[in-house]
Amino acid sequence: MHMHTTPLTFKSQSIHDTLTVGSALGAVLRRGDVVLLDGDLGAGKTHLSKGIVAGTGSIDLVTSPTFVFINEYRTATQLTIFHIDLYRIESPAELDSIGLSDATAGSGICLIEWAERDPSLQEIPHLHIQLIHVTPTSRYIRLTSQGTRATEIIHTLQQQQRLTLYQEDSV
Ligand SMILES: Nc1ncnc2c1ncn2[C@@H]1O[C@H](COP(=O)(O)OP(=O)(O)OP(=O)(O)O)[C@@H](O)[C@H]1O
Ligand SMILES: [Mg+2]
Repeated sequence: MHMHTTPLTFKSQSIHDTLTVGSALGAVLRRGDVVLLDGDLGAGKTHLSKGIVAGTGSIDLVTSPTFVFINEYRTATQLTIFHIDLYRIESPAELDSIGLSDATAGSGICLIEWAERDPSLQEIPHLHIQLIHVTPTSRYIRLTSQGTRATEIIHTLQQQQRLTLYQEDSV
């Protein structure tokens, strides 16, 4: 079997495409996985998170944690998904108060928007996703891995037939 190297980039031409890619990812996530999401305002981090959560089999409503900092959902198998947004975080003390270290400790699945706001997150093994505006309705969704587990996730997605349509070769 040919093993590709990371990064892996998808091109989304609609919200629906973003949900489809997110859902495929959500279906392969398991306890302990940390996904860091970055990209401009409105790039699609929350929409991708909606897809990811749906892909875990969760029926919970996903909303932006911009103002509440953290939302929790349950997967079909009762695993907790922590959905965090660091956009409005102003100090390390605030990071502590939202429970970021518990959320990344491995008891569930952790999704963090605006992860670049806390550079110490880079030290945790994680899947990194960069959302990039291409046009008002299209986005690149670029996955890179930090650690063997994230590399395994990327390889799994690379082999999914239903995602071939969205794969970009050279971004
Ligand atoms: N292909 C696409 N995928 C995702 N969203 C898209 C796409 N095309 C247009 N959009 C629009 O882009 C916006 C994405 O919003 P979303 O809240 O997901 O972004 P975000 O990255 O979470 O923003 P924030 O930084 O405020 O948290 C929505 O208004 C959505 O309608
Ligand atoms: Mg958001």
